[in-house]
Amino acid sequence: MTDTKTIPVLIPGRMHAGTLEALQGLFDVRQAQGQPIESLSESERAGIRGVALMGVFTAEMMKLLPNLEIIAHFGVGYDGVDAGYAAANGIMVTNTPDVLTDEVADTTIGLLLNTVRELSRAEAYLRAGNWEKNGNYPLTKTTLRGRSVGIMGLGRIGLAIARRLEGFGVPIAYYNRSERDDVAYAYHPDLKSLAAAVDTLIVAAPGGAGTDKAVDAAVLAALGPDGVLINIGRGTVVDEDALIAALQNGTIRAAGLDVFAREPHVPQALIDLDNAVLLPHVASASEHTRQQMGNLVIQNLEAWFSGRPPATPVPEAVKAGLERRG
Ligand code: DGY
Repeated sequence: MTDTKTIPVLIPGRMHAGTLEALQGLFDVRQAQGQPIESLSESERAGIRGVALMGVFTAEMMKLLPNLEIIAHFGVGYDGVDAGYAAANGIMVTNTPDVLTDEVADTTIGLLLNTVRELSRAEAYLRAGNWEKNGNYPLTKTTLRGRSVGIMGLGRIGLAIARRLEGFGVPIAYYNRSERDDVAYAYHPDLKSLAAAVDTLIVAAPGGAGTDKAVDAAVLAALGPDGVLINIGRGTVVDEDALIAALQNGTIRAAGLDVFAREPHVPQALIDLDNAVLLPHVASASEHTRQQMGNLVIQNLEAWFSGRPPATPVPEAVKAGLERRG
């Protein structure tokens, strides 16, 4: 067993508490507490060999750590990490797929049902004493009954959502970079054509340049006036201004959002809308699942520094042949 306790691992910002504690027991953890990396001394920066983080790690940040070997990202979506630059410079990047798939898919179904049946608004109505004072909560204009669902991004999470939706008896179609040969759902090679074919669009796609504002005004118009948009992928995938306009003017009916373009900022115009259900990026946020994600972060760092291949390298690292140290 390699002694990892002398290996300096930087945690630039926030980290799941249980994972932080475990990392502190295993590595020489340095916490930047959200301060810029430049605030560390040059010799401290030169010592850092690993980074564990949730969120953003740019090429500029990597350049400040000349002996950095591995970035272990806490989260499946690593659009905040410049994995291309890392791969080109021999830095391993890992993420945390699979362990959160079921949690995120469960939450997506909850958000969808909440959005079409207005569950959080109905609860607020009860808590405000309106049931007793004013009678029953109004019948909801929307329902899952009779809907057809399109999924943008039929990867691990998109597929887990689709499998759950089969139990709800709704037809399912999808848009993906390429058609899958292991599902019978209708494939659309074009997002607008998917939106036009369904009335409920679930975004389960990663962020990054390839999907930036892909759900734009034209896609929302194609979804139509009974349309419901659910986003549990990344906020950047949706043109937020176009979405606000579409919700305000009835281009679509409602939205359920767990992710936003500039988190934790949520535009006031969205907060003001009563046809939007808004969650603070909680799809994977249970103690159970966050602990599993943290365990994978730890496993990846331990493997790397013991000369073994990490369990979950990102595709950019695999493509660059960075499976193990040295
Ligand atoms: C992920 O893992 O990318 C989730 O969005 C994190 O919460």
